Formats: sequence, C-alpha cells, structure tokens
Amino acid sequence: MASNKVYIFDTTLRDGEQVPGCKLNTTEKIELALALEELGVDIIEAGFPISSPGDFESVSQIARVIKNATVCGLSRAVEKDIVTAAQALKHAVKPRIHTGIGTSDHHIKTKFNSTREEILQRAIQCVKWARKFTDNVEFYAEDAGRTDNDYLATVIEAVINAGASTVNIPDTTGYCLPYQYGEKIAWLVNHVPNIDKAVISCHCHNDLGLATANSISGVISGARQIECTINGLGERAGNTSLEEVVMILRQHHDLGYHTDIKPQKLNPISKLVSDTMRMPVQPNKAIVGSNAFAHSSGIHQDGFLKNAINYEIINPQEVGADGSKIVLTARSGRSALAYRFLKLGYNYNRNDIDVLYNEFLKVADGKKEVEDGDLHELAEKYSVEVV
Ligand code: KIV
Ligand code: ZN
Repeated sequence: MASNKVYIFDTTLRDGEQVPGCKLNTTEKIELALALEELGVDIIEAGFPISSPGDFESVSQIARVIKNATVCGLSRAVEKDIVTAAQALKHAVKPRIHTGIGTSDHHIKTKFNSTREEILQRAIQCVKWARKFTDNVEFYAEDAGRTDNDYLATVIEAVINAGASTVNIPDTTGYCLPYQYGEKIAWLVNHVPNIDKAVISCHCHNDLGLATANSISGVISGARQIECTINGLGERAGNTSLEEVVMILRQHHDLGYHTDIKPQKLNPISKLVSDTMRMPVQPNKAIVGSNAFAHSSGIHQDGFLKNAINYEIINPQEVGADGSKIVLTARSGRSALAYRFLKLGYNYNRNDIDVLYNEFLKVADGKKEVEDGDLHELAEKYSVEVV
C-alpha cells in the first residue's frame, strides 16, 4: 500500500527565484535554504547550476550546509547541464538531479522541431546520464498537463526503467482543471506497469488560479510529492503555494495524508521570503496574508466574538500568525466597537455603545479604517458630553 506521507519539494529557490525582481545572491539563498530545512521540507530545489556561475556557487554552498533535506539541482536533457548539476551537488549529503524534457506535441514540434520517438530517446538518455552520478534522479515531463496520456505513460515507463525514482508531471502552463489533472495522475497509476518503483510528483502552475487545487487532486489520485513555493512565487502567475497545500492536508486530515512541515513556521518563513525577495504578499493571501485572520464586517465580527470557530477554520497561532484582528470600518457592528473599546480600557454598557456607535459611523464613513487614536477621541468627546 502506498505510504500516505506527502513529500514537500520546495522550489522557491529555483522556480520562485526565476520571478523578475526576486533574484537572490548566494548569502540570501543559503539563509532561505536553512529556513526551509528548519520548516521541515523534504527536498530543496536549490537552483539551476548551468544557468550562471552565481547559481552554480549557490547550489554548491547550499549542498555543503544542508544536512537533513535532499538538495536538488535542475538540468535540461543535456549532458553538460547534468554534469554541471552533479558537480554543484558534489558535497550534498543527499543529492538529487532533476532532469527532463518537454513531452507535449506543442513542445515537441515548435520548441524542439522533433518527433515523439526522438524525445522518448532523449528522455531515457538524460536519466541514464544523471544515474552515473546519483541514484536519486527525478525526471520531469515538461508540459505534461497538455501531453497526450498514452504517450506520457510510454515516456514515464521508459524513464523509470532507465532509473528515475521520482517522476514529475508538471502542468507547466497551468492549463488543467483539477479533475483533468487528477485523471492524468490516475491514468499513470493505472497504465504504467512499473509506476510502483517511483514517486509521482505534482508541479502545478497558477495561470488559472488552480495550482493548489490541481496538486491536491494529484495527491488524491496517487501522487506523493508536491512541488511548491513559499507565498506561491514562481514563473508568471506562480507555482502551488506551500502553505496552502500543507494546511489543506492538515485541515482535511480525514483524507489520511500528512507532511513533515512545522506549521508554526509558515508565517515567519513567508515574511522572510517576502522581505528577502522584496516581493510583498497580497493581503488576502490564504494562511500568510495580513488579512488572513482579520474580521471587518459586523456580521462576521459578532459571530467571531461569540466563538472564533464561527469564522476561522485555522487558529492563527497554529500557523505562526500574530493573531486574529477585529478591524473597524464603516461595515463594522456594535459588538466589534465594544470589543475594541474594551481592549483600550473603556468598559461601556449597551446604551453607551448605542450612542457611541452613531458617532463612530460618522468617522468610519470618512476613512478606510478607524484606528485606536480615533477611538480615544470618541471616548474623550463622550465623557465630556456625559459629564
Ligand atoms: O514548470 C515546469 O515544467 C518546470 C520544470 C522545469 C520542472 O518548472
Ligand atoms: Zn515550473
């Protein structure tokens, strides 16, 4: 029976770092790699060693300092790439070479001007080259999301025979719907005779906002590795977000899957990545956005204050966030106003709040958010009127 551990393959330092403006120097990459190891990721894709001398240096330094996680280097199906990746990973305790080639007819015809048969041979060849250096070889079938399932199954069977122990099925263009991606993984489980010799990996892009849903669908269909990034960074619209898939598997533990990620570290590492890459996190981002635990409408605030579980499925402490916030806007209600006054030391009864609420709305209609200073002013005015 397949194990229900889902391996977390973090590619923040490779697919994430490809984002314009996110480039990191070696010192920054090492700092993030150490934080990823602390977080509990199983595999760190540290970079693409042939791409530049700087990236080669970063991968080799990371390979020296990381002791528990597997350190992975990307390559194309080109011998020089693979040799360079192997050199960069020379000092890794657990090295992995990630190699592969595009398998969709789009890539075969318009990128390689080639044929399915030739690409199949190149796929087999690149795994054989990589196996000369390590027995931990991952093969990627780029644009698998748009690859014909019969042909994909042929390629995957052949690369496993050639020695790949992980097979990555990227939805490179973020094209698939969740049920289609899930069916693709199920197709491989059912049509590749040696599939039990490899771990199937999901690598989904977010062009249609479906990367997380597709990865979870892949796992339900039999994949046991998810390739993801902190804050969902990655080419174009990004990759599957690590914090989302980890928390989905935790929240829906009835599905029976688990990861080794320490959830309390999710918000701290999100901030570290955002600061280091100078890439702000959108406020409404699940798990790590500044509004992920903020309540601002009257109905939600009242229900939340009666019992947090009414409007929060995750305790912010569980994911290392600062805590829940009751934000005051013109859409807020009396319970929230009373709560915020109480936090500032004003213990008003229901009648006081009724009067203050009307004054509060006048202020709130004129600005986006009512702050503590505004509440002190309202309290001051009220005390003068009451006296
Ligand atoms: O999106 C993709 O297909 C990739 C591969 C290189 C794994 O990033
Ligand atoms: Zn990618």
